[in-house]
Amino acid sequence: MTDARTPLIAGNWKMNGVAAGGAELAAAVSAGANDVSAELLVCPPTVLIAPVGAALRDGVALGAQDCHFAQSGAHTGDISAEMLADAGCAYVIVGHSERRADHGETSGDVCAKAMAAYRAGLRAVICVGETEAERDAGKTLEVITAQLNGSVPSAATAENTVVAYEPVWAIGTGRTPTNDEAQAVHAHIRAALSASHGAAVSDGMRLLYGGSMKPENAQGLLAQPDIDGGLIGGASLKAEDFLAIAASCP
Ligand code: PGA
Repeated sequence: MTDARTPLIAGNWKMNGVAAGGAELAAAVSAGANDVSAELLVCPPTVLIAPVGAALRDGVALGAQDCHFAQSGAHTGDISAEMLADAGCAYVIVGHSERRADHGETSGDVCAKAMAAYRAGLRAVICVGETEAERDAGKTLEVITAQLNGSVPSAATAENTVVAYEPVWAIGTGRTPTNDEAQAVHAHIRAALSASHGAAVSDGMRLLYGGSMKPENAQGLLAQPDIDGGLIGGASLKAEDFLAIAASCP
């Protein structure tokens, strides 16, 4: 990792928690933020953005887990990037594999959502990752390249975008690629971004690893030259584990 890329440890709380516990978790993460050099981000469920935001102290950024591509209008149940910005968010995750699978989101949809994030002044955390079947078929790099080409807007910069590599088979399973395997995919992502967006953008952009990252395996993954942080699901629901992962950043 170059000095220019401040490590980012992001918590994806998914559909977990209610106001009381969420505020407690946010306060506990905030209490440890000064002890780590990584940038911290928490992404609670949408209805918890207000109570979690109120409980966070400076030094921990607030994000959401999805947004609609439109600014406003007849989209029942959806939330716009502008609403998230208004609620205090600085980041939004787009294209998580659970959204791609559960809601049929295509890379084109993800690209539109990332552009909505930029429009609202949010940073997009764009997720890519292969399924187990794709991996077994030797198609990992091909799948990742196609997802990147379809999902990352041409307006992406090192400042407005973070890419998260999350192998679908590693999410919530306790399984992870080896450190070398993860690094190889991250190096491929950086090379693909260099081809599409130029070396200055790709050299400066933070690439996160996600999928069963825990205090026990974080150090080895985070030590890889092209891994600039983590997108943490299960382990982000315990402040102690989340902060221990953040403390593992080189
Ligand atoms: P996990 O989830 O850490 O629980 O595997 C990661 C993610 O889906 O972002």
